[in-house]
Amino acid sequence: MTNIPVNAVDVSNLTVKFGDFIAVKNISFSVEKGEIFGFLGANGAGKTTTIRVLCGLLLPTSGKVKVSDVTYDQGIEAIKAKVGYMSQKFTLYNDLSIQENFAFTASLRKIPSDTLKRRTKELLDFIGFSKPMNTLVRDLPGGIKQQVSLAASILHDPEIIFLDEPTAGVTPVARARFWALIKQLAKDGKTIFVTTHYMDEAEQCGRIALMRTGEIIALDGPENLKKTTFPDPIIELNPKGTIPSELIEQLRNNKAVDSIDSYGMKYHLIMKDSQEWNRLSIEIAPFFVIRQIPPSLEDVFIRLVEGVTR
Ligand SMILES: Nc1ncnc2c1ncn2[C@@H]1O[C@H](COP(=O)(O)OP(=O)(O)OP(=O)(O)O)[C@@H](O)[C@H]1O
Ligand SMILES: [Mg+2]
Repeated sequence: MTNIPVNAVDVSNLTVKFGDFIAVKNISFSVEKGEIFGFLGANGAGKTTTIRVLCGLLLPTSGKVKVSDVTYDQGIEAIKAKVGYMSQKFTLYNDLSIQENFAFTASLRKIPSDTLKRRTKELLDFIGFSKPMNTLVRDLPGGIKQQVSLAASILHDPEIIFLDEPTAGVTPVARARFWALIKQLAKDGKTIFVTTHYMDEAEQCGRIALMRTGEIIALDGPENLKKTTFPDPIIELNPKGTIPSELIEQLRNNKAVDSIDSYGMKYHLIMKDSQEWNRLSIEIAPFFVIRQIPPSLEDVFIRLVEGVTR
């Protein structure tokens, strides 16, 4: 008999309400085993709420959730055993040492002491931690804290690892290091479900779900998302100096222009009518250095998630 591959996560028609407020609206998606799945969306989009449901911490209002073939009908503990969760709020106790934090997590997870000992060594080797185990968490630099927190969340060797903004507020070097660990875990067969507001991190995901006000509005690989959101090229306008104050507004109101958004000191322009570009480009050439650029995920994010459509 051939084994039918089981998804790491299956969500169908999931809705979560808090009183009358609908935080998650009828979403459906699947995550494959071994995938690095990015969950993106503006603040309050419903990412953490969805993750809490998938970790067995919050009962869905309606809909079905399957985590590594376990459903809510089989009990919350069965779901919890499959998942590791590094929550958005810091998960370690600052006033406890690393050893005490691990022991506390192990007691919650009912991990036997010999397993705890073995896993602690494995995981500290994995993150390359070399300080004494009795170091207080509050004495660790931010980036190291995040790595120790990751280690604590996977002490019980779960199949699926939920990371809710794991790199918020740490340095670029520490973020890169954290992502090297994420990639290694995925290589070892773990499924990673990660939220982030950093676009360079989103680029590293196999697929990305974009959430807006409780709904999934796009789901695809980074390159496909760019292609489908921007079938036409993006034109970058780099001001040569001070530009007339009304110029951007005039461009925005031009019927041939689809959108113009500011990116730092520059602007990204998308034409609705590309025929018109020949004329317009000559008209604005005195004010800008003009070039065509490939769309970035940030462009996709701004257009879809923040609902910039004109
Ligand atoms: N326990 C709760 N009771 C009432 N409302 C809640 C509760 N938890 C979350 N919400 C609301 O549900 C919405 C979605 O919140 P959620 O934390 O899932 O968003 P998020 O996408 O994780 O945002 P962020 O990027 O800021 O972390 C928000 O409007 C939030 O205020
Ligand atoms: Mg959140």
